[in-house]
Amino acid sequence: MSAISISGLNKHYARVHALHDIDLTVERGEFFGLLGPNGAGKSTLINIVAGLTRFDTGHVAVLGHDVVTAYRQTRRLIGVVPQELAYDPFFNVREVLRIQSGYFGLHKNDAWIDELLAALMLTEKAGANMRALSGGMKRRVMIAQALVHRPEVVVLDEPTAGVDVELRKSLWAFIRRLHREGHTIVLTTHYLEEAEALCDRIAILNHGKLIALDTKQALLMRGIGHTRRVCITTEQPLGRLPETLEKKVRRQEGNQLELRLDKSTDSVMAVLDALRAHGAVITDLNMEGADLEDVFVELTQTQKV
Ligand SMILES: Nc1ncnc2c1ncn2[C@@H]1O[C@H](COP(=O)(O)OP(=O)(O)OP(=O)(O)O)[C@@H](O)[C@H]1O
Ligand SMILES: [Mg+2]
Repeated sequence: MSAISISGLNKHYARVHALHDIDLTVERGEFFGLLGPNGAGKSTLINIVAGLTRFDTGHVAVLGHDVVTAYRQTRRLIGVVPQELAYDPFFNVREVLRIQSGYFGLHKNDAWIDELLAALMLTEKAGANMRALSGGMKRRVMIAQALVHRPEVVVLDEPTAGVDVELRKSLWAFIRRLHREGHTIVLTTHYLEEAEALCDRIAILNHGKLIALDTKQALLMRGIGHTRRVCITTEQPLGRLPETLEKKVRRQEGNQLELRLDKSTDSVMAVLDALRAHGAVITDLNMEGADLEDVFVELTQTQKV
């Protein structure tokens, strides 16, 4: 039995075909990444799995239970942290978590609530009103809210959006702990280094289509076959580059330049010549293999609809 199984899933919003024939299985105990540009359909897919959004055709099940016909069971098995911050301004943090526990018939849940508050560094905010919390704190409360009933499958839609670096690290540690303790984790994120650090298997959606589904290693290998990263340090900042080079820029900051080259069509020597012709005095050069960002860019830019 899989944690999540999706077959033949289609979803339209009026004229937008938000999900096209999606077939996707997440196994129990996996740490799964769902990636894609804005509007790719990630949240739509997650909301369907959570039983919150209707769909046109297909089958979606959580731990073998159909999300439409067995909605009550699937709701208990899954905990979803939505992308949009939504909260009731009249309750404090502990009240929100108690109310959520009550939905699942859990009336003596304070020991677990305390544990969640501590793990999410919210203990001191337990009595604070929701409206008095910062955005990052509200997001942490929403994570706790999704976990009050200790769901086996945990789905997090951009849990680290708008969260500062330190808190992001502690959230990673917390999500890793949930995974170690046996939870299946599905994560969407726009921070590709986050997906690369955490996820074992990754799906990439683009314009509602599943364009890649593989282990992280296999995806990285795919990129290494095509892409090479060249990191260059120059004596002086380079300013605006000629158009032919500009297209290959991955990052440019002061006298540091990082280019993304296609192994089959771009010659490193030709690029260095072009830089020299532009007046650059190169003081250091490093070549590296592709990372997940390279693979993501390659896949999502070459498969335009
Ligand atoms: N309630 C809605 N009504 C109409 N169209 C919608 C609705 N929700 C999403 N869409 C459309 O469906 C498509 C997929 O949106 P979705 O929110 O699933 O993307 P996403 O991958 O989560 O994007 P992001 O990275 O920005 O969160 C987009 O074209 C979006 O405009
Ligand atoms: Mg989204």
